[in-house]
Amino acid sequence: MATNRTFTMLKPDAVEKGHIGAILEKISASGFKIVAMKLTRMTKADAETFYGIHKDRPFFGELVEYMTRGPIVAAILEKDNAVEDFRTLIGATNPADAAEGTIRKMYAASLGENAVHGSDSDDNAAIEGAFHFSGREMF
Ligand code: RTP
Ligand code: MG
Repeated sequence: MATNRTFTMLKPDAVEKGHIGAILEKISASGFKIVAMKLTRMTKADAETFYGIHKDRPFFGELVEYMTRGPIVAAILEKDNAVEDFRTLIGATNPADAAEGTIRKMYAASLGENAVHGSDSDDNAAIEGAFHFSGREMF
């Protein structure tokens, strides 16, 4: 996958609250092109693998419970400098620290339930995209 791509999930809280359309509109208006997208639900094993880097953290159990409790929107996004620009668009992990106008400031409830995921590196963007999508689902 090219390095001008990032991977995102609209997390279960954002889907439950009916924010899919508003968040996708903001993503598109910010210059990202959607090159893969689906509504899906992670299994426990999926979430444990996806967030495996956090497996020894105290919040890991809660994180897996949260990420598996309902459907998510998974998507691959394309833009110059996609990984960094998307992290700027979503804002800080804790919405209390997120800048005005960021997706987490607008739609996230708490540190634990923060509405949206964004890859933190080009390598992870490729790994995470391939975790959710087959080649024929990426455009
Ligand atoms: P993400 O991977 O979902 O884009 O979030 P991030 O990089 O901003 O934050 P990260 O440190 O990777 O944490 C992953 C997710 O775990 C949950 N979390 N809960 N209760 C807590 O102390 C805590 N800390 C992190 C959040 O859902 C966070 O996005
Ligand atoms: Mg992270």
